[in-house]
Amino acid sequence: MQTPETQPSSVIGTAVPRVDGRLKTTGAAMYSSDYSFPGMVYLVPVCSPIAKGRITKLDASAAEKMPGVLRVMYHGHAPVMYRPIPGSDDAFVDETRPPFEDEVIYYSGQFVAAVVAETVEQARAAAETVQVEYASESPNVATDLSDGWGSLADTSHRGDAGKAFAAAPVQIDETYVTPVETHNPIELHASVAVWDGKKFTLYETTQSLLNHQAVMAQFLGVPNENVQIVMKFLGSGFGGKLWPWTHAPLAAATARELNRPVKAVVTRKMMFSNVGHRPRTQQRIRLGATHDGKLVSLQHDYVNHTSMISDYDEGCGEATPYIYSTPNLLLRAAKAQRNIGPPTAMRGPGAVPGLYALESAMDELAIKLKMDPVELRLRNEPEKDESNGKPFSSRHLKECLTTGVEKFGWAKRNPAVGSMRKGDLVLGWGMACASWGAFRMAAQVSVALNNDGTARVSCATQDIGTGTYTIFAQVVSDKTGISVDKVQVVLGDTSLPAGPLSGGSWVTASVVPAIAAASNAAVHTMLGIAASTAGSSFHGRKPDDLAYTAGRIHAKDQPAMQGVPFEDLLKQANIRSAIGNGKSLAASDDPNAQKYSQHSYGAQFVEVTWDPGIARLRVSRVVSVIDVGRVINLGPARNQVQGAIVMGVGMGIFEETRYDPRNGNPINSNFADYVVSTSADAPEIDVTFLNYPDLTLNEYGARGVGEIGLAGIAPAITAAVYHATGVRVRELPVKIENLMMA
Ligand code: MOS
Repeated sequence: MQTPETQPSSVIGTAVPRVDGRLKTTGAAMYSSDYSFPGMVYLVPVCSPIAKGRITKLDASAAEKMPGVLRVMYHGHAPVMYRPIPGSDDAFVDETRPPFEDEVIYYSGQFVAAVVAETVEQARAAAETVQVEYASESPNVATDLSDGWGSLADTSHRGDAGKAFAAAPVQIDETYVTPVETHNPIELHASVAVWDGKKFTLYETTQSLLNHQAVMAQFLGVPNENVQIVMKFLGSGFGGKLWPWTHAPLAAATARELNRPVKAVVTRKMMFSNVGHRPRTQQRIRLGATHDGKLVSLQHDYVNHTSMISDYDEGCGEATPYIYSTPNLLLRAAKAQRNIGPPTAMRGPGAVPGLYALESAMDELAIKLKMDPVELRLRNEPEKDESNGKPFSSRHLKECLTTGVEKFGWAKRNPAVGSMRKGDLVLGWGMACASWGAFRMAAQVSVALNNDGTARVSCATQDIGTGTYTIFAQVVSDKTGISVDKVQVVLGDTSLPAGPLSGGSWVTASVVPAIAAASNAAVHTMLGIAASTAGSSFHGRKPDDLAYTAGRIHAKDQPAMQGVPFEDLLKQANIRSAIGNGKSLAASDDPNAQKYSQHSYGAQFVEVTWDPGIARLRVSRVVSVIDVGRVINLGPARNQVQGAIVMGVGMGIFEETRYDPRNGNPINSNFADYVVSTSADAPEIDVTFLNYPDLTLNEYGARGVGEIGLAGIAPAITAAVYHATGVRVRELPVKIENLMMA
């Protein structure tokens, strides 16, 4: 029987301030576009204003004569670039076509030329003068994805869902739509490329150092070891920076050709065209249930759009096969091609839009059954993962629900539409469940205990703003007794021991075993040094007879406090550092982990206020109860969920990228017209972590935090909107015009 962790140790499970906080708040943290080098030149792309067609003529002669211009590049006049190997697991990229490979236009914003000049102003001015003529065709940016329904393919099934649905006494059959959303991290994508005649050093905005290295090596046609990627700080990525985008190989190839450092920073407008987005989805959910609310059939069909040059699956059915108990289930997926740039992973890809549809349908079923929506979920809690028969490693969704009910005050809810008020405002209360995968990837870590009493820990993973630097320092501190402020954490460079990409909320669970193992190995090295150093009080003892406690070496039969500080022994030995290396095994290579269905869970409770007099809708209050195993650092973990909830407000009521059907251009490609939630939109937020360790992932029982906080927010908002107004919005985001008739 699992029990929640109630007694945190001093550094694990409390709120440890971020070790990189001072660098960030003082402006000393170096983001990729902050790097500059002597002789550096600037690359500015020219983008296609059409979404489908061909270039018929390109005249760069005016640009080439402009002051400071070194090079104008376009089809037939491009630096050397190759295609990465398609479908490669360790060199993943959504857009494999190098810029200027042909004269075909696949999407609006596609790079058709680029100017390199001594200053960014000169490059921008010259880029304006490049004359391009096109044979334009009518693009397909249609928002109705029904053309995909004809090519649905099974991805999961059990029983006979169609037959069971037809026979079910209570049925729901509805279609839900999620729009294109653009990641919009504050930090623009950027590449600063340096070529030394043999080797590239690339300062990139990336969530994945090693993948970026492998892809760039293939784009550039050089071995991996000739490409070093550096990324010390990221101004967020939200999935948009998982894989390289085409400005990156272009900058690097240009640096090689010109033998000058090159800086390329994507504009905000290009962020809407050239660096991925969450694709539009259309999802049909059919639920069959008994009168007492037991699911007998669940069918989930979805179509997502993809581009003309990639094959992206949004994976909307991610959580569908395991979240509820039902004997009959069918999950089918299809794609519809559009003249839009390649979609990519964004903020809980798959499960987040998928749960919007499924949880909305569950809410509609609860209403049809006249049953409380929490009760409906509790009645359909599975005993095991019914998609594969495996036991859950640690699942506490029921407790998320019951805790949320209590914290939110759900018992006071009157289910009648529009029945709850606060002054002139109508209150709406809605809820939904959340789930996200729990992953552990391979990682290698090196730890050094230094002769000045400090430690150094290093890994080629990256901190994308989520607190990874601090997690490293905490685990080393926990294992070695060296205080967090004396642990130097070195990440963000491919020359370090191989580490995981920052995606899928999996870095913490992945690196923790490797940090612990490396710390233990460094301690073991230290004991060997103590036993072999002439003049040491432990000289000649077997290392096995020695112990390390809170930074001191002592004989096992001796009290720890009588031991010798490790730094004193290192000084005596004239050794700078005792080094240890450790690694984590990917869960997919771990037979024990493979016995379990590993996921995180949550319950989201939302209050909206609706002012019918002025048609004003606000998300006013959110209670989020999250089951992510044991939390290692409460501060950043809470920040992750709070931030995700604010994103959820955006997904629910603001965010949508729209395309002009005439030319395929994103219409609202700026922060004025694409509305993201700001602090003023943030509701009152109450986050609770249940804190049951999941020991199938690592010795601390930590799963990852991040995307789980977004799952379930949008359907809880639309459920609350229904409760307030009686309007069921099945296409995100909720718009005022949807509610005007309420
Ligand atoms: Mo996340 S969308 O896997 O960076």
